[in-house]
Amino acid sequence: MSALELRSLRKVFERGTPNAKTALDSFSLSVADGEFITLLGSNGAGKSTLFNAILGKFRLDSGQVILDGEDITHWKDYARALHIGCLYQDPMRGTAPNMTIEENLALAYTRKAHRSFFAVNRRDSAYFRELLSRLHLGLEDRMKTKMGLLSGGQRQAASLLMATIAEPKLLLLDEHTAALDPGTAEKVLELTRQVVAERKLTCMMITHNMRSALELGSRTILMDSGRLVLDVSGGERARMTVEDLLKRFSENAGRQLDSDRILLSGAKGQ
Ligand SMILES: Nc1ncnc2c1ncn2[C@@H]1O[C@H](COP(=O)(O)OP(=O)(O)OP(=O)(O)O)[C@@H](O)[C@H]1O
Ligand SMILES: [Mg+2]
Repeated sequence: MSALELRSLRKVFERGTPNAKTALDSFSLSVADGEFITLLGSNGAGKSTLFNAILGKFRLDSGQVILDGEDITHWKDYARALHIGCLYQDPMRGTAPNMTIEENLALAYTRKAHRSFFAVNRRDSAYFRELLSRLHLGLEDRMKTKMGLLSGGQRQAASLLMATIAEPKLLLLDEHTAALDPGTAEKVLELTRQVVAERKLTCMMITHNMRSALELGSRTILMDSGRLVLDVSGGERARMTVEDLLKRFSENAGRQLDSDRILLSGAKGQ
């Protein structure tokens, strides 16, 4: 069974007006359990809209979202959030800045353990400390530091732990390293690779970095005008260069991949 099945998703924003925009157009995709997909596309291709459709941020015009065999098309976003972890470009999103690192982790953890937030005990604290120590960012000694005082990279690393501590059925990463400096981005990407592998998570990651799109995960998909225009995996992907990927994109989409943030080379982690 697929972890995620997207069937003919369609979304037109501002329908019936001169500004009507088809952000998702007959978009179908089947994601296997434990698969790690990287997702590329030009600005406005519909990548974030695709994630928002999965997260239930708006009503689709048509199509179905099946998560772990269950049709969640009509579920509210907060109900889906129990099963789907997500991270965005902005490190300030998704965590409570006035709560400590430990409190933030406890909040995420209580969802998994189905227990009261106040029931987090010393053993749990030790577990959080151990998880944090693996980041090699010195955060394990700053458990009582407020989240808002951390650097962007530290916050993204801690947010990644929070998003995955409850072992979601799906992890969605929307350019989660794009706002970080290259060195920090590299660390957070490496952490992403480890966490996804260790917890055997099913993951989709939007990136503008062509190289990490081919290096991370096991499958790369490209979007254009709300449609899926390229889907590569296995040996074909393993042999693919960034140039090949760009060429295949323009052949299939009928135009060049175009983004203000696209990175063809340079620091791998950007
Ligand atoms: N809430 C909204 N209301 C109206 N139009 C929207 C809304 N959300 C997205 N759009 C439009 O839908 C299209 C797809 O946007 P989306 O944010 O999904 O693109 P993207 O692929 O994530 O681009 P980027 O790489 O710039 O982040 C764009 O034309 C955008 O302007
Ligand atoms: Mg986007």
